[in-house]
Amino acid sequence: MIEIAIDGTAASGKGTLGKKLSNKYNFPYLDTGILYRKIASYIIKENINNTSDLEKQCCDFAQNLILEELKNENLRTEIVAKLAAKIATFPDLRKILNNKQKEFNKINKKKYGGCILDGRDIGTIILPNADFKFFITASLEVRAKRRLLEKNISFLHENDEKCMLLNLINNMRERDKLDSIRKISPLVPAKDAYIIDTSLINAQELFFKVSNIIEGKK
Ligand code: DC
Repeated sequence: MIEIAIDGTAASGKGTLGKKLSNKYNFPYLDTGILYRKIASYIIKENINNTSDLEKQCCDFAQNLILEELKNENLRTEIVAKLAAKIATFPDLRKILNNKQKEFNKINKKKYGGCILDGRDIGTIILPNADFKFFITASLEVRAKRRLLEKNISFLHENDEKCMLLNLINNMRERDKLDSIRKISPLVPAKDAYIIDTSLINAQELFFKVSNIIEGKK
């Protein structure tokens, strides 16, 4: 049974890689960032961001999350991302979500012979004994450009595009910092992870590189 752990920065290409590997090997794939985003989106919808028991509200909601139902949700707005990074620092919330991720891995690994998870602490905390660990990153500018392209906004004036790009760069820099300096489960590569910079390679090249490593061709 194979466990594949993918960690890395936002928009580094780890999600696309996870999906491609999932298609190739028929192993279920979980983007664990969606758990934090789903809770953040709930907090925004219910307008309870400034309550004194924010962590408790997050935990109560998290207890009832069903991971399989989250897969097709689109929660990629900047507001949600910002709050997701904040609540991801809550220790009790992480405990609940960690258990859910481990359970997802256990069940699916048994059922399908393998499982793929992507996030920030998969290789270090969730699947410390994963068979393959990858840490994917890219320059801030490249990642911000990818996010802008994903937004699929056409006919953008050149100045507006520059402005949006700068905004994205600033937001991502802030989130990278929050993810990296937090005390629990910070964004750091596992000691035994393959670290891959995708600034100069595309999604397909990354996929080939990682497939070759998995199949022992490297
Ligand atoms: O991967 P993403 O951008 O969708 O993640 C959203 C936030 O959730 C990100 O700021 C870090 C946090 N996160 C985390 O702390 N641990 C994970 N395993 C996945 C995401």
